[in-house]
Amino acid sequence: MRFTDTLPIPSAAALAHSAQLVERLQHKIHQHGGAISFYEFMQTALYEPGLGYYVAGLRKIGAEGDFVTAPEISPLFSHSIANQCAQLLTELPNSSILELGAGSGRMAAQILLRLEQLACLPEYYFILDLSPDLQARQRETLAADVPHLLSKVQWLNRLPTAPFQGVILANEVLDAMPVELFTVTDAGIATVQVVVQPEGFSFTTDDSQQAADIEKLLANDLVLPYTSEFNPALAAWIHSLADCLAAGALLLIDYGYERADYYQPERNQGTLVCHYQHRVHANPLIYPGLQDITASVDFTAVAEAGLAAGLDLAGYTTQAAFLLNCGLEDLFIAALQTNPQASYHLAQQIRTLSLPAEMGERFKVMALTKGFTPPLLGFRLGDRQHRL
Ligand SMILES: C[S@@+](CC[C@H](N)C(=O)[O-])C[C@H]1O[C@@H](n2cnc3c(N)ncnc32)[C@H](O)[C@@H]1O
Repeated sequence: MRFTDTLPIPSAAALAHSAQLVERLQHKIHQHGGAISFYEFMQTALYEPGLGYYVAGLRKIGAEGDFVTAPEISPLFSHSIANQCAQLLTELPNSSILELGAGSGRMAAQILLRLEQLACLPEYYFILDLSPDLQARQRETLAADVPHLLSKVQWLNRLPTAPFQGVILANEVLDAMPVELFTVTDAGIATVQVVVQPEGFSFTTDDSQQAADIEKLLANDLVLPYTSEFNPALAAWIHSLADCLAAGALLLIDYGYERADYYQPERNQGTLVCHYQHRVHANPLIYPGLQDITASVDFTAVAEAGLAAGLDLAGYTTQAAFLLNCGLEDLFIAALQTNPQASYHLAQQIRTLSLPAEMGERFKVMALTKGFTPPLLGFRLGDRQHRL
């Protein structure tokens, strides 16, 4: 990922697609009296039916897309997660896995293969994704990679209504949720809104109704102006997952920080970034529907939401510690023995997943459990709950 001011020019077809979403956004702004919240803008840009970035059929993940996620980098990532799932599935009879936002379906295929090897297959592997085109891609991946296990996989359009027992997984789902932007100046805390100008969309601000709640997130010694964001739908989302979980764990993997680090005074531009064809930049108002818009996760907020929803905080650590605790090293050695010619590539994969300067420390893993008390494999060493 790199910051650049020279983004590739989208094709004419892509620009025509984006123009439709621009029109939809302009209509919404007009209907709302001339301005919409940034949350509404981001929700529309990413998820507007038929047009939003995640739902309109563009290739998003992988070399021809805009960004790469850990399951695309190495199967050893998914195999380590499978080891953690195996502990839960073994101790919870008749349990299943539910993966939220399953991307290309690669993690699902790799987890199923590893669990088959461990003779620990789940009753079902459910997938819930908001994106119809990603659902189609997941079917293709699973049919090609694990045809003999396809009968285990079921796609859902909403969370299960019957009590769910097992593991709920979400890799890089929270960072794809819309956020509210705010800015702090000498005049106080304001919410960022989006308006239409002759040259395109632009930002304006309005007094925030949530100023008191936002103030609680922030340090006392901010250097103003200070801009950041929060996820207003987080608590309700965690609550809905807690409600459907009868027993087991919710395992969340994402880039993010503990609150004091997230809202540290030096991070005065927040964490919002956009991904377009493997370039990273900071303007969410251009190319609606063509680029990913994403924000890091406030893991303190996730823990608070989990506890408020009746879940137990069973672990919080870095991705590097979690993968090592789950047996990454042994998986690496076994992969080397099976395929010695791949040693360079395998070592590169391990570096990307676990080095602090790569994904190792920026990505964190949090487990929230219900009715499950044994210590979880992935958090044996390096637990960071005290930092939340
Ligand atoms: C950045 S992608 C990550 C995909 C995949 N997990 C991976 O690691 O490659 C985010 C995914 O989350 C999905 N998503 C966003 N909000 C969701 C929600 N509330 N429930 C389920 N999926 C969601 C998006 O449709 C998209 O597939």
